[in-house]
Amino acid sequence: AGSQGHISVVLLGATGDLAKKYLLQGFFQLYVDQIDNGHSFSFHGAALTPPEQGQTLMFEALKRLSCSPDVFPDRCALLKDQFLKLTRYWQLKTAEDYVSLNQDIESSLREKGLQEAGRLFYLSVPPFAYVDIAHHINSSCRPKPGAWLRVVLEKPFGHDHESAQQLAKELHTFFLEEEMYRVDHYLGKQVVAEILPFRQQNRQFLDPIWNRHNVERVEIVLKETLDAKGRTSFYEQYGVVRDVIQNHLTEILTCIAMEIPKNGSNSEEVLKNKLALVKLLQPLEKANAVIGQYQGYNDQVREELQKDEHHFSTTPTFAGVVVFIDSLRWEGVPFVLTSGKALDERVSYVRVLFKHQAFCVSRSSKCKPQQIIFHIGHGELQFPAVVVSQNLFKPILPEESWQEVTDFSSQHLYGQPLSEYYVYRPLKEQDAYTTLITNIYQGKKDAFITTQNLMASWHFWTPLLESLAQEVPRFYPGGTENRNLLDFVISGREVSFALEQHVEFMTSDQH
Ligand code: BG6
Repeated sequence: AGSQGHISVVLLGATGDLAKKYLLQGFFQLYVDQIDNGHSFSFHGAALTPPEQGQTLMFEALKRLSCSPDVFPDRCALLKDQFLKLTRYWQLKTAEDYVSLNQDIESSLREKGLQEAGRLFYLSVPPFAYVDIAHHINSSCRPKPGAWLRVVLEKPFGHDHESAQQLAKELHTFFLEEEMYRVDHYLGKQVVAEILPFRQQNRQFLDPIWNRHNVERVEIVLKETLDAKGRTSFYEQYGVVRDVIQNHLTEILTCIAMEIPKNGSNSEEVLKNKLALVKLLQPLEKANAVIGQYQGYNDQVREELQKDEHHFSTTPTFAGVVVFIDSLRWEGVPFVLTSGKALDERVSYVRVLFKHQAFCVSRSSKCKPQQIIFHIGHGELQFPAVVVSQNLFKPILPEESWQEVTDFSSQHLYGQPLSEYYVYRPLKEQDAYTTLITNIYQGKKDAFITTQNLMASWHFWTPLLESLAQEVPRFYPGGTENRNLLDFVISGREVSFALEQHVEFMTSDQH
């Protein structure tokens, strides 16, 4: 091991929730994959927690690491053991702490006679800590020339266009653009990551129909059953548009609507085309959006943030927004983005619904819906899947990673019996963070958010956020009843004509 060079990983926030749930596992998987490729590896978990306590917390979590099902238990135990041995815990607080970390990395490289390939710093910490940490990494922990530095950042990346720009400006004083990897974990989800390759591989079917003449509308939906309990101090500053629509749903929209790159999966071209698409989004007006708040949210806010009974928060916990794209291809096609907390089900998907008349010779009742659904997760189908109406075409998906599923008879999904679809699921399910960590390691930049793309997205969303700031949301029960998001959207009288028209349509053939 080691002939390909040594990789040092430093995870800041190693005792936090994200680390425990996903990141430690993701880095373990990277280790397992990379030692087979001849790399050597060291893993440094860090946090503000003092050494003894931090170490205990991190190692507790490390004991729960698992291997993929194809690894024999003996080998898995051995791999875990090796990983624990090369793992160290650091309390990183002061400038000296960072200097010591750097000395440790360098002396162990020297002792073992290893060539350094690169260093990866994953900042799983609140954004207010970014600039300070960035400063320390830049002044004490840069690898020698020839080895790469990659710094991974977690959202939120600002609060609006101005604050995002400010943060980006500060980060740029320490890092080059190519050194920064901003995570949007939805881009690591298997089905989201498959949208562009799917569009590319199925061009013979999609080229003629992926446009305004044939697409009725696109729905991009992220529904959650959980509410904001326990997180209101975060949620109060953000709300649903900043929390998931500006980032996750907008990224999905670009994957669906952007021009596919001419040069296969060229990262730069993907990012360039994404940016071009975001710049084509038509400015939003208040009438493009409807916002809601689950009843009970304000009680939670008052309790958790110790506010008196007169305090009234207008933070939206639900939003439905109709977005249009100013291009010849998409002119007039509504992209309906919806998300909310405390709704009737947990599911996320994109549904591209085609116009009937484009495919039916007569408008008979035999004309069933024709749609492509990127079922990202949860919901009635308990697995991620790419779903295509059989009366559209039989899609092509890479055989080494996707399998066709046929053994369901009675279930319905998105308004059609499952038996009327081609359904493909991943051969092996993989968590989004594990995928993203591999992408960081491979330097696959198109799975991350560049400064330019981030700014373009904030530029698009900020005016709407400002115009909604004083708006009182409508209330929805958020209990077990009457939580259907679409009913809720329609019930709002002041909903814009555009939204009403298209959302009304949504209920007529869905569920
Ligand atoms: C996060 C949001 O980015 O995404 C959360 O901050 C939300 O509020 C989550 O619950 C949804 O992600 P997933 O992977 O659970 O669908």
